[in-house]
Amino acid sequence: MLVYLNGRYVPAAEATIPVDDRGFLFADGVYEVARIYGGRPYLMEAHLQRMAEGLEALRIELKDLDGIAAAAERLIQENGVDGDGTIYIQVTRGAAPRKHAFPAAGTEPTVYVAAKPYTNHPASWFEDGVEAITFPDTRWSRCDIKSIALLPNVLANQAAHAAGAFEALFVRDGVVIEGSHSNLWGVRRGRLITYPASNYILAGITRSLVFELADELDVPAEEGMIYREDLFEYDELFLSGTTTEIMPIVRVDGREIVDGEPGPITQKLLKAYRDQLPR
Ligand code: PDD
Repeated sequence: MLVYLNGRYVPAAEATIPVDDRGFLFADGVYEVARIYGGRPYLMEAHLQRMAEGLEALRIELKDLDGIAAAAERLIQENGVDGDGTIYIQVTRGAAPRKHAFPAAGTEPTVYVAAKPYTNHPASWFEDGVEAITFPDTRWSRCDIKSIALLPNVLANQAAHAAGAFEALFVRDGVVIEGSHSNLWGVRRGRLITYPASNYILAGITRSLVFELADELDVPAEEGMIYREDLFEYDELFLSGTTTEIMPIVRVDGREIVDGEPGPITQKLLKAYRDQLPR
């Protein structure tokens, strides 16, 4: 499996970074995960646009963002990814002697791109739904930046895993905000609701797509708060994300949402999502 690292295509096992890379020392960088469907990158422009915004917010100057798209295309070819896959991109502020302030001008960012086959979650999870837990949101207040500093997400997802659940839902001030690696949606009286695009969530590329699909299906969708205390008054709950696609949640903290079956609007959205994929 070849990967791209700082302008070179090398076998993954030979791709190494210096120990003073600021990604390693400070989690000083951003990342993206995009899907490959039918051997082609999916919604790549949107992912690169979000990465450009993250880099700008962190003031990491990357001259050749377009080179990343080209690198991903070449890796898809070289690695023979002709069906489903994922693209992982990570850019850090580069390697420099450890000090908190930015390194000297001219320090090149570290750029890593991988593209490999991906096996989707089992069909039964999409058909029968999954379980989630709620978890305190201890993250910083710039969750809109897709930072590689993911410790709260790691701990939350591990807690879900340990509880036999698929996802942990972050709760801040009584509001269920988003998942550890996905956005949360509620359906009540036929209307979709999801947390507002703000500094408290990552505005998912799939989240934007769900708004478009809902519009096409004539399902009203809006931004708003899903309160923890109202969670079981929702008719349906689901997650959206690049690897999560559209995933029904049928139980939270061990308690069923309605009858513990995926709801009809979630199922319609999942079908619409699948139908529009390039194959
Ligand atoms: N996670 N919220 C968080 C905290 C995320 O990490 C993600 C994506 C999303 C959904 O965003 P999108 O639809 O653009 O994938 C929401 C990626 C897939 C990950 O960390 O693996």
